Amino acid sequence: MAITALLVLVMVVTGLHWAAMPPSRVETIDVRTVHIKGEFVESNLGTTLGADGKVVVRLIAQQYSFEPQCIVVPADMPVTFRGTATDAIHGFVVGRTNANTMLIPGFVATFTTTFRRTGEQLMPCHEYCGTGHEAMWGRVQILPPEEFLSKARGGERLSCVQR
Ligand code: CUA
Repeated sequence: MAITALLVLVMVVTGLHWAAMPPSRVETIDVRTVHIKGEFVESNLGTTLGADGKVVVRLIAQQYSFEPQCIVVPADMPVTFRGTATDAIHGFVVGRTNANTMLIPGFVATFTTTFRRTGEQLMPCHEYCGTGHEAMWGRVQILPPEEFLSKARGGERLSCVQR
């Protein structure tokens, strides 16, 4: 009885844990063609507002920068990040928010978060990726939703990189 009860308890706890913190899906990508074709070509990087109202940020990490270097997102709306790396393991965290992931060559990292405060945040690489690691960082501009929506309506890829 005790063993059966213990096994049932383990199943319940494990089930609840996986429901609360599902493991991320494994999505692979070919590092040899990531710049040439598919989702992560340069013209497709940055922030988009989909026809369904979803905000998606696509970015690439490589020694020693992010592309785009400056990312625009709205506050108070779910934002999905999709990113990958081309050469070494990188990662990023946006200021003191919970937007935080590793970027591994050959894999697409994705998560969805909502930023509560407007303003600019630093986005450093937080995985040691080589001699230039400490100089690798980007910026994230979190705009009020109305301002973001007015900029994003055209459907083009947004970023705040000064060109
Ligand atoms: Cu990229 Cu550290």
